[in-house]
Amino acid sequence: MSDGIMTMAYIGASILFILALGGLSNQETARKGNYYGITGMAIALLATIIGIVTENYLLMLACIAIGGGIGFILAKKVEMTQMPELVAILHSLVGLAAVIVGFGTFLDHTTEYTGAELTIHNVEIYLGILIGALTFSGSILAYLKLSAKIGGQPLTLPGRHFLNLILLVAAVYFMFRFAGAENVDDGQLYLIIMTVISLLFGVHMVMAIGGADMPVVVSMLNSYSGWAAAATGFMLSNDLLIVIGALVGSSGAILSYIMCRAMNRKFLSVIAGGFGTTTGGGSSQAQGDAGDVQAIDAESVANLLSAAKKVMIIPGYGMAVAQAQHTVFEMSRILREQGVEVGFGIHPVAGRMPGHMNVLLAEARVPYDIVYEMDEINEDFPKVDVSIVIGANDIVNPAALDDPDSPIAGMPVLEPWLGKTTIVLKRSMASGYAGVDNPLFYKENTRMLFGDAKESLDEVLKNL
Ligand code: TAP
Repeated sequence: MSDGIMTMAYIGASILFILALGGLSNQETARKGNYYGITGMAIALLATIIGIVTENYLLMLACIAIGGGIGFILAKKVEMTQMPELVAILHSLVGLAAVIVGFGTFLDHTTEYTGAELTIHNVEIYLGILIGALTFSGSILAYLKLSAKIGGQPLTLPGRHFLNLILLVAAVYFMFRFAGAENVDDGQLYLIIMTVISLLFGVHMVMAIGGADMPVVVSMLNSYSGWAAAATGFMLSNDLLIVIGALVGSSGAILSYIMCRAMNRKFLSVIAGGFGTTTGGGSSQAQGDAGDVQAIDAESVANLLSAAKKVMIIPGYGMAVAQAQHTVFEMSRILREQGVEVGFGIHPVAGRMPGHMNVLLAEARVPYDIVYEMDEINEDFPKVDVSIVIGANDIVNPAALDDPDSPIAGMPVLEPWLGKTTIVLKRSMASGYAGVDNPLFYKENTRMLFGDAKESLDEVLKNL
């Protein structure tokens, strides 16, 4: 393939990736965005295979088959509730790839660099491995936290900021030693030491972040995986990889900013860690007593909903667990047919990954024009007759606004208690991800419908 065609293909793929990102920013265009992305990736792969690869075709095909096979099986098998941890583990693979490519590039002497070129080449390798290793270990830890294999709470070591500073200084020191190394063996030794430092840094950083800050960790590692890919692009002198990496890196950074704003947190304080809880994080803890709240049955919920003029549905992580989105849609459809005004209120960190609720509602074909962001609908709650909270907890916790000592103080939340009646669907009095009790459950105008959200809603539907 001539250089001209190759450049054209890469530019075409880059444009398609930009269109994909643009498409994915909105539910209505997300499907189109996905197709742009798939087409861009197909062009990128074909151009790279035909234009760059000149030998070892068998090895490459075997790798594609193994990687593609694993991806296919995972995609078939993974439950919607496991998506966040799948994303985390995929980020770790991007980091690992950057580390392997870094060492491979260092040991490959096909092109001999000298002078300034050699320095630039070495810095590329060093930074590529550094970002890759910390993305790898940080993502593995995020995976363990999100899948509740370890506690999701922030684990902070004494003097952690000092420890981070030492690791940073050591990484810079070994960069100079690496750049000035007199032979390959010395250089390799410094690279290995820096890799260990960077792996430790990734673990230490993500370990200290947890509880209610986990959404920012997910988007931050997304961003790091992009920069790791861009670093790989520099090492392999592949312009397309640099462009894609920069796109992912910067869109992940923007997402982290959006998540921080949603949580009313500063990015630096998130990185510094320690926010959230000492007890929660993934595993629900039993909190208050079910005897202190007012329970309700499905038939009465159906009556309340039918009599309402305006109903707000607030989905949370429990809706994903119960896979109740289709029943929720059915309920909203029947209510709308009965002339009830129905809306969906989405908190930016509802569920376990950015856009989690939007994806589920889109899957259930809920019309986009009745799905509202928190900022759009919070002031409407005084006009709402019934808010139905489906497997949500932290995102409707009034303590975030009222209790300055609460671990989630300052986080904006949806405010259904300002409406006439709130119905909360959950299985028990267990806390949400942040591990804090929720005063909403005890409010005068709150009714609790205990049970699995899908089973409860099926009962409500029968009575509607
Ligand atoms: P949570 O606060 O985690 O509450 C979910 C609730 O759903 C639980 O209290 C649970 O109570 C209930 N539940 C679980 N399974 C259920 C089922 N089958 N049927 C009915 N209810 C069920 O969720 P949320 O309100 O969506 O808030 C999200 C939290 O996750 C925030 O703290 C956020 O910071 C954190 N987080 C978010 C992300 C992203 S990017 N969105 C990533 C990581 C962490 P029972 O056990 O009593 O049923």
